[in-house]
Amino acid sequence: MTALTLSTAGAATLRADALVVGVAKAGKTLVVAPGAEAVDKAFDGRLAAVLETLGASGGEGEATKLPAPAGLKAPVVLAVGLGSAPEEGESYDSETLRRAAGTAARVLSGTKKAAFALPVASAEDAGAIAEGALLGAYSFDALKEQKDGKKPLAEVALLGAKPRDKAHKAAADRALAVAEEINRARDLINMPPNDLYPATFAAAVQAAGKEHGLKVQVLDEKALAKGGYGGILGVGAGSANPPRLVRIAHTHPKAERTLALIGKGITYDSGGISLKPAGHNETMKCDMSGAAAVFATVVAAARLGLEVNVTGWLALAENMPSGSATRPGDVLRMYGGKTVEVLNTDAEGRLVLADAITKASEEHPDAIVDVATLTGAMVLALGERTFGIMSNDDDYRTAIHEIAGEVGEQSWPMPLPAELRKTMDSPTADMANMGVRMGGGLIAGLFLQEFVGEGITWAHLDIAGPAFHEGAPYGYTPKGGTGSSVRTLVRLAELTAAGEL
Ligand code: BES
Ligand code: MN
Ligand code: ZN
Repeated sequence: MTALTLSTAGAATLRADALVVGVAKAGKTLVVAPGAEAVDKAFDGRLAAVLETLGASGGEGEATKLPAPAGLKAPVVLAVGLGSAPEEGESYDSETLRRAAGTAARVLSGTKKAAFALPVASAEDAGAIAEGALLGAYSFDALKEQKDGKKPLAEVALLGAKPRDKAHKAAADRALAVAEEINRARDLINMPPNDLYPATFAAAVQAAGKEHGLKVQVLDEKALAKGGYGGILGVGAGSANPPRLVRIAHTHPKAERTLALIGKGITYDSGGISLKPAGHNETMKCDMSGAAAVFATVVAAARLGLEVNVTGWLALAENMPSGSATRPGDVLRMYGGKTVEVLNTDAEGRLVLADAITKASEEHPDAIVDVATLTGAMVLALGERTFGIMSNDDDYRTAIHEIAGEVGEQSWPMPLPAELRKTMDSPTADMANMGVRMGGGLIAGLFLQEFVGEGITWAHLDIAGPAFHEGAPYGYTPKGGTGSSVRTLVRLAELTAAGEL
């Protein structure tokens, strides 16, 4: 794991293997961002000119490495682009800083210690830079026998942040806890489905629970049968790896509110009897990203000591075809008694979530938020970087959208059009697990809404797009599992604790 320190040393005098500075566009010229004055001085005030000669433009995502002149303790300077310089009196946007720090950390893999001399105008900026650097310094190489890849950056020294300032110190501590938990979620998502299945996922939660003093309860297949969890059992019926329902709880003695988080945890989604074709199943180990995000959020809430109860429910199953698998046409009796006709076994996420939502509702939380890689339709609608938000409360949906924006996650509010509900009517059961094709992401949301307890505020995040990144890494986003929604959920828990939601 990458270490984080706040240093009061000057950029020129700190011992490090690389020094990270920011550069930006001011009209057509390149400017060095605040925080790197001493570095520029060591270049005789010509750092921007030297970088321009090397072709740097200051654009976001750009990284230019150059040897350091005498006068700097670090042998290498890395200039990262920050886009357009802010207007006089304004400061850089924190997501820009987060991404630039992530780019720097990625480019510096193989380096031991890097000092970040990026512009810090507030405690929030310090936190964003720390978060970006720690998230960018991620790699998943546990299963590589041939370690040809470079090791992630081992140590991040943050300059410009004030270690003796309470707000700066708190922002850095928070960034470390959140980034480490996001990286934990990424590890779980990246683990192959032959290693990570419901029982091993549950064991990982139990281990983390022990480490952080959290109460963890695991229902195995026998307990699920006894409790009547027909949705989770129905989805898991085709697999040699039986399902689990895991409850992990952070509680605080002064908490006045309880937030229930529910994660879709399909450790592999083959589609079941409604088998996915080749081309659609290669990345389906990512179908437990919602459960990983919920797990990470509860542990982060505990590490941060938030004055709110956060209960995580992980609905874990493997969706496989076999002689014991649920068939299209089967009717499942869900937890709580509702019956559902399964028309398509590939619409499995809503089935496991429905059981968990009903169960979580019994505890009367102040709000329920479920997180799921639920539909391909949401990816078609919003693309691969934006998650959709649905809710039974317009203000709550708006609040979550705004929170996501503040923590640097792209999201968009989506409706739950009432007229689509009846397209899930079934001639044999209370409802079917599918409706019309158009608006498929909204149909899934309407299905889930049926299971939310009376009077409980509920939101649904469909993270099918951003949960798993297949393209080239950018900013702090690696290839593979991203940890999408954890930052939003942690902030949601913080604001719930503060009574602002
Ligand atoms: N896990 C998939 C959704 C998904 C698609 C996640 C792409 C990540 C990337 C989900 O279980 C699924 O298969 N949904 C179906 C629902 C349909 C059968 C009603 C879909 O979206 O096609
Ligand atoms: Mn599916
Ligand atoms: Zn799925």
